[in-house]
Formats: sequence, structure tokens, C-alpha cells
Amino acid sequence: MSRTSKADLVIVANRLPVDRVSQPDGSVTWRPSPGGLVTALEPVLRANDGAWIGWPGSADEDEIEPFVENGLSLVPVSMSSQEVEEFYEGFSNGTLWPLYHDVVAKPEFHREWWESYVAVNRRFADRAAEVAADGATVWVQDYQLQLVPQMLREQRPDLRIGFYLHIPFPPAELFSQLPWRRQILEGLLGADLIGFQLPGAAANFVRLVRSRVGHKTHRDTIYLPDGRPVKATAFPISIDTAGFEELARSSGVDERAAEIREALGNPRKIFLGVDRLDYTKGIYSRLRAFGELVRDGHLDVEDAVFVQVATPSRERVEQYRILRDDIERLVGRINGDHGRIGRPAISYMHVSYPRDEMTALYRAADIMVVTPFRDGMNLVAKEYVACRFDNKGALVLSEFAGAAQELRQAWLVNPYDIDGMKASLLEAYAADDKETGRRMRAMRKTVVANDVSKWARDFLDELAAVPDHHDKTVRR
Ligand code: ADP
Ligand code: G6P
Repeated sequence: MSRTSKADLVIVANRLPVDRVSQPDGSVTWRPSPGGLVTALEPVLRANDGAWIGWPGSADEDEIEPFVENGLSLVPVSMSSQEVEEFYEGFSNGTLWPLYHDVVAKPEFHREWWESYVAVNRRFADRAAEVAADGATVWVQDYQLQLVPQMLREQRPDLRIGFYLHIPFPPAELFSQLPWRRQILEGLLGADLIGFQLPGAAANFVRLVRSRVGHKTHRDTIYLPDGRPVKATAFPISIDTAGFEELARSSGVDERAAEIREALGNPRKIFLGVDRLDYTKGIYSRLRAFGELVRDGHLDVEDAVFVQVATPSRERVEQYRILRDDIERLVGRINGDHGRIGRPAISYMHVSYPRDEMTALYRAADIMVVTPFRDGMNLVAKEYVACRFDNKGALVLSEFAGAAQELRQAWLVNPYDIDGMKASLLEAYAADDKETGRRMRAMRKTVVANDVSKWARDFLDELAAVPDHHDKTVRR
């Protein structure tokens, strides 16, 4: 894509779907970016032939020209190292991330971080204004870019602007801590349609707009003083179900799954955890629960092993460093106390695997353990279900993950209750094929019927249906 060509659909996200990696010899390669946003949106862009504006994940680079990578039109936005520190690690991941996830960690409020958030949001809005064709649809993603809808509308009232929040939207009691709460609400109200994972999040937002900004609201619609309506509705996100299933059915993945079981010593059952290394994910508590089951003799390492794969994430943010140390100390202690030669109780990998390896792990695992303290959706849970075309395998799932609203047949747990979690892990471990099959079949129906292309279609159809206020005001 050249600098001058324009797109009818523009996705704006903090990250591009690929990260730029400079090799020691000076050459540049691209690797997939971490996290659920990219997993969900990549197939959407592929199906819709648009452009994706985002940060290539490195600091202090000269501006990179738009380019096509693996069939996707990508428009990079650069950041200085100070912006990475203040906008990305600071306001996005030191303020908003913990605040929106139930203050699982303490959010920090710094005025310089906020200033950087405003400046970087403006850069993204300016780039979107340049790239979008006349009357185009621009779809802004996630908590890093909440000011973009309003900034973009000021420059380009002809656009249809959607916003989707991939993470939870907190109740007023927590959101109101934010010194810049009104600016964030007004930033989002620049959109025609604001999508959330769950109805409760949309309701939190509408209630806050009514009380803090004073706009009139009726159900899921907010009426701005100039008459423009803004809709705030839930669209639970999903995955490319058929794509995961197809990969899971391939002979390569089948062989790899058998190899993994073999390498683990062919235990009777394999527990699996797969997450970004994030304090919202409840990794520490789940490993502790498993460790206690081994310690107390409910599980034996000859019969049961735990595989935990943790993608490195936000490694310069202090809370993430502390978490990594805590988890690695815990794994070392559990293995030291209970492992035998060639049989660690927990196999822990701090790494990001390619999609086929992830799929092989899902196929090899008997019990998938997903225990976040709070999670917007959690795609890992849906990926596991998508890969179990054999209707085998048990899912242990936190009731505080958005996915729990759909995957009701999982073993639902409260990750704050270690004893309750231990009981559910044991139940899932002991469940017979009839029980796991009954639950898995029901969950598969949900994940097959509600895939990411339906999610995108539902959102974009609803966005297209918003009355064209701009035309009306121009005609008057
Ligand atoms: P989040 O968006 O908070 O990271 P999700 O569960 O919604 O959480 O999405 C995580 C995505 O990242 C999934 O697509 C999952 O397959 C992928 N992922 C997680 N851990 C790893 C890993 N260690 N290696 C490769 N991919 C991973
Ligand atoms: C979650 C967020 C995304 C984010 C991803 C990875 O999925 O919702 O916005 O991109 O985590 O985090 P990172 O900080 O590496 O972009």
C-alpha cells in the first residue's frame, strides 16, 4: 500500500499484527504479536481487505512506510522510547490495565503518563484520518486508544467510527478513581458504536456517561446534545473456530501431540495452562492448587503432570517482573519438593509458540486450566474447545473470564478460592469420558456457532445500521 492509497475499512490498534525484530546482522524480520486482540482480528482483516494501523513494537525507529506483509496492508505508527515508557508501559499498562481488571494490581496515576497517552492517541487519529477513504469505516480497538474516536471525528465527520474494548469495562466505583475519567468517556463517545465483551460492561459505560457526562440515555443508546446517537452494546469476541479445528485435525499436529505426551513420560493425565505472563491470569494460584494436590497425595507425578506455557509480556513493567520471579520460585519449589528424576510435577516454559505447537498442546492436554481473576473474554478457553473435535478433554474455567458466560458446561471455579479450585481440578481429573464428552459437545456447539467472523459481521452490520447523522446535518 502506498502512502497515498486509501482504504474503505481501517482497523486501528495499538499493535500491528506483527512485531518488527531487528537481527544482529542488521536485517529485519516480523513475528506474530502477542495476545488475543491479534488472534481475533487478523482473520477479520484478511476477509475484509482493509488496512491495519498500529505500532510495530520497537522504539525510536524512523517512520516506516506502509507495507504489505503476508497479504495484509499494514500502516506503522512509530513511538519514541519515552512514549513506550509513558504511553504503553505507563498509562496503558500501569494505569488502565489494572484499573479495568478489578484493580487486581494497584493502578498508578501520573500526569506525564496521561499527557503521553493524549499525544500518542492523537498520532493514531491523524494517521487514520490520512488513510481512510471518503465515508470509510474505521474500527478502533482497545484501551490504549480510547481518545481516538473523538479526535478522529473532529477531523473526519464523514467517517463511520466503531470502537471495541477487548478488556472488561469496570463498574463506576472503580472507573471513577481515574483523574481523567471524563476525557476518556468523551473520547469514546466520538464513536457511533461502542462494543464491549459483556452486557454488564456496556451497562457500566452507559451508567457512567449518564452520571458523569450528563447525556440522556435510553437502554443501550446515548443521545449527544447535537442529537447524534451512540450505541453501547455487547459483542462477545471469538476465534477462527474452523481454522483451529482444521489445524488440530492435521496429521502433523496429531503426531506432535503424541510426541508431547511421550516426552512427558505418558502420564495418565496432562493438565495445561497457556497464558501471557500476566497477573490477571491467576497462574500463581492455579500452580499452587496443583502443587498442594500433589503434596497431599491426591495426585501422583507418575499419573499427572502440569504443563504451563507463559508468553513473555510487558517485561519492563515492575508488576510483571515481580510476577515472573514469584512464579519461577513457586515452580522451582514444587518441583524440588515433589518431582522425581525425569518427572517434574510442572513443566514450565517462558516462551511463545507458533500456532501449530499450541494446537498440539491443546490436543495433548486432558485438563485445560484457565483461571484468571478477571479477563475480558479469554480466547485460550475457546481455542481449546475448538481443537477438541474428538469431544474429549475437560475445561476448568474461572467464572471471572468473559468466556464463562458462554462456556457454562466448563468446571467453573473461583480463582480466589484455592480449596474450591483444588476440588474442581480433582473432579475434572476424575471425570469419565461420558461426563467430559457431554460437556465438551455442548461447549463445541457454542464455539462453532459463534466464531470470530460472526462477531465481526455482527459488529460491522450494527455499525452500518447507525443512522447517518452527518448527512442529515449537512443537508439541513
Ligand atoms: P490475552 O489477550 O489477555 O493475552 P487471550 O486468552 O484472550 O488473552 O488470548 C491469548 C492469545 O495468545 C491466544 O490466541 C493464545 O493462543 C495466544 N497465546 C497465549 N500464550 C501463548 C504462548 N505461550 N505461545 C503462543 N501463543 C500464546
Ligand atoms: C490483550 C490486550 C491487547 C494487547 C494484548 C497483548 O489482548 O487486549 O490490546 O495487544 O493483550 O499485550 P501487549 O501489551 O503485548 O500488546
